[in-house]
Amino acid sequence: MNKIIVSIFLAIILVLGINKITDAIFYVEKPEKSAYQIDSATTVASTTSAETSSENSDSDIMALFAGVDSAAGKKIFSKCSSCHNIANSKHKIGPSLKNIWRKAGSAPEYKYSKALSSYGKTWDVAELNGFLLNPKKWIPNNKMGFAGLKKPEDRAAIILYINEFSDNPLSLK
Ligand code: HEC
Repeated sequence: MNKIIVSIFLAIILVLGINKITDAIFYVEKPEKSAYQIDSATTVASTTSAETSSENSDSDIMALFAGVDSAAGKKIFSKCSSCHNIANSKHKIGPSLKNIWRKAGSAPEYKYSKALSSYGKTWDVAELNGFLLNPKKWIPNNKMGFAGLKKPEDRAAIILYINEFSDNPLSLK
């Protein structure tokens, strides 16, 4: 009887021990690989959705203004405010976005990348919409470290919001 109990205990200890050892082995090997895989999976997913929504974004954006308001845009601006002022003309990492309907890359006293300062176009709704969807694709080699706003409604809302800080606002509604 005693012998049986002892051998059951031994068996349990053995199983637990093996589990610990395998855990230890797998813990060492797992993290780097899976982190990398998750990372590349999201990158692929976001590129795909960016491309899908860019196909019909230009013509839809004007219609979207009716359904969004600048209060929503103000919330979304929290994604920009670490790098951009909008209520005043002081620059942060990025240029102030006050009076945005200017030539791209032309805010005084801000040191733009060559890509932006030589871009040559003037910001309007279509340009902002395209840029904010995928900044790196719209103006290659610009230095704005931001992945983009994938939802058309988010871009419409933030364009409404940015427009409010222009001395010559466009009529978008
Ligand atoms: C990590 C910092 C960062 C974030 C976040 C960021 N930007 Fe920028 N942005 C920049 C930088 C830097 C530039 C200048 C790019 C250059 O010179 O190539 C820029 C440029 C711009 C420009 C062009 C301005 C001009 O004077 O021509 C616009 C418009 C803009 N950003 C809008 C936004 C909006 C809207 C958001 C949020 C949805 C945002 N950015 C988020 C850093 C950022």
